[in-house]
Amino acid sequence: MQWKQVLSTIKPYKPGRSTEEVKQAYHLTNVVKLASNENPYGCASTVAEFLSSASMPFEIYPDGHGTTLRAKLAEKHCVEEASILFGNGSDEIISIISRALLDEKVHTIMPTPSFPQYAHNAKIEGADITEISLKDEHHDLNDFIEAINERTAIIWVCNPNNPTGSLIPKSELESFLERVPEDILVVLDEAYFEYVTDPDHVDSVALLDRFPNILVLRTFSKAYGLASFRMGYAVGSPEIITELNKVRNPFNNNTLAVAVATKALEDDAFIDMCRELNEKQRKRYRSFASERGIHMYDSETNFVLMEVPGDADEATEYLLRHGYIVRSGNALGTPGYIRITIGTDEQNSGLLHAFTLLLQEKVESNE
Ligand SMILES: Cc1ncc(COP(=O)(O)O)c(C=O)c1O
Repeated sequence: MQWKQVLSTIKPYKPGRSTEEVKQAYHLTNVVKLASNENPYGCASTVAEFLSSASMPFEIYPDGHGTTLRAKLAEKHCVEEASILFGNGSDEIISIISRALLDEKVHTIMPTPSFPQYAHNAKIEGADITEISLKDEHHDLNDFIEAINERTAIIWVCNPNNPTGSLIPKSELESFLERVPEDILVVLDEAYFEYVTDPDHVDSVALLDRFPNILVLRTFSKAYGLASFRMGYAVGSPEIITELNKVRNPFNNNTLAVAVATKALEDDAFIDMCRELNEKQRKRYRSFASERGIHMYDSETNFVLMEVPGDADEATEYLLRHGYIVRSGNALGTPGYIRITIGTDEQNSGLLHAFTLLLQEKVESNE
């Protein structure tokens, strides 16, 4: 086969271990997955009720335009319907953007550590990649500007950033956008937007009038609790959306997923509730870490990146044995840390108990 040469340097995405797999491997009856930043409260009860009674013409191809969902999202964001692009998760939108703009001749800029799909897709397209390290735990947007060259086609910004949870203050983001040339696409990936509580934050869809070269990514996978349906969307200028639509596969979202996302938009109270519960639990993690002198990144999301004693893979394995699946920082570009999805009160109590045992064990083994 004449595979693209770059594929020899790329590994397939390795998902975290499933609860079933961990139950069998460690002979556990209860396993809690706090590894993929899903919503521990599930989805809105109105959505669950809708699902149990949903009846649809499953033999018919989906509405490839997502007409009703499109109208609702356009109204929610006060944009034209032509400003919206749907993807099979925002993952697919990242690959659509990359396919539309990147090749061997162009250059792209992204943060590191950050969401790996930007680099993954850019590599496959053969683009020249500049990765900008976080500075003091944050995107250093001045470094992004300095990295721009005449071949730069896309700048990726993850806000708040995965895996650190850090947020770019409003004024910094705006002053950065003012300095980016208009012919460079700035992707603002806001997968965790609904969880942000810091008032120094901007709904960047509102910046579209001033900066038509931005594209905002949102998802139903996180706060909406619908990760299994794979529904993400982008909001941008109709000109940009038209070009991206040429790359999008027809019928990339299935009928049920579109219907469920449409229903989910009716329940803002559920999202508000999840944001509040998450903030309360996030504070618990913050206190836990500061009381024990453990470093934890300042998170505006539904996960925390927490320092561990010793190797992150070992800490992850220890927590697995206690029934908690988390992500090792070794796989995320943050060795010495683990990323924990913030769960329910009960789940977090269990995780923090297991973490305390880990700390005690480390102290004892050093004595
Ligand atoms: C920053 C970021 N962007 C995008 C995604 C992909 O989300 P989706 O489920 O919509 O594909 C994730 C998922 O973890 C993420 O953390």
